[in-house]
Amino acid sequence: MSKGVGEAPGKILLIGEHSVVYGHPAIAMPVEGARARVEVDLARDGRIEIEAPDIAQRAVEGQPTPARLAPLQRLAGSVRELFGEPGVGLRVCVRSSIPVGRGMGSGAAVAVALVRAICAALDRKLADDQVEELAMEAEREFHGTPSGVDVAVTARRQAVYFVRGRTPQPIAAGESVFRFVIADTGIEAPTMAVVEEVRLARERDQARLDALFWELGLMASVAREIIRCGAPAEMGVCMSHAHAILKEVGVSSPELDALVHAALSAGALGAKLSGAGRGGVMIALVEDTAAEARVAAALRDAGAVGLFSAALSR
Ligand code: MEV
Repeated sequence: MSKGVGEAPGKILLIGEHSVVYGHPAIAMPVEGARARVEVDLARDGRIEIEAPDIAQRAVEGQPTPARLAPLQRLAGSVRELFGEPGVGLRVCVRSSIPVGRGMGSGAAVAVALVRAICAALDRKLADDQVEELAMEAEREFHGTPSGVDVAVTARRQAVYFVRGRTPQPIAAGESVFRFVIADTGIEAPTMAVVEEVRLARERDQARLDALFWELGLMASVAREIIRCGAPAEMGVCMSHAHAILKEVGVSSPELDALVHAALSAGALGAKLSGAGRGGVMIALVEDTAAEARVAAALRDAGAVGLFSAALSR
């Protein structure tokens, strides 16, 4: 029987985490150097089996399912139903180099890659927005009330200006290349828990939190113009200011602040946490490849356990 492969990249948020949940714009881009890859083999026995060797977990239909794989098992069932193939068995193997729980969109990427792999195995096609709609099913189980930005960027594999509930708009950089170094604190911080804490903080102090979200949203709109014009220095200022606001929202951590400080001291144009915060990754914008090497070394010295890079250009 036939086999299908699906892939999807990780992501970083340049501006707009948390505020995007409340309807403000955000800018996100894919990180092609961190990817989820899903292989699906069709079988005749009607069973869905999922193997994730990277996290040493396995789900077999009819047996207790590990929590991390349950949303994927249900998603695989939904895709099978959608194509009117409820009797077909699926042998799924999930691999991913995107660190889990670090704000790099690993759940969304795996979900998108799974949908694509099943489509390929069954020789069916879906439009990007249909892939996104299906993947959101699993994302809601992973994250509770996701804005949808992770799924949008990983499904489209391009930088987007995203507003919840609207069609994402692609972003192209002007003349310049925007180079980012991404550093992992090594601390797993589940998005669902951090988003819930922010929701509770907003319940206690709505006027203050809404003002901070409004400012982040405004900066996302400004940043879109800055990227279009190709002005990395201005983008750096926006990013560092966004980090200061996210600190006020209460989602930074000493480890994230230390990495942001190290990047700026090594000459980064700007730096901020990226994703839900409390742990996970931070990003630094650098001027050129020499600065990239310098900032990467400083981040490693300051305790980063993993480094990635990404570039946004025309
Ligand atoms: C997304 O990577 C990070 C948050 O903004 C949550 C969301 O948009 O669903 C914190």
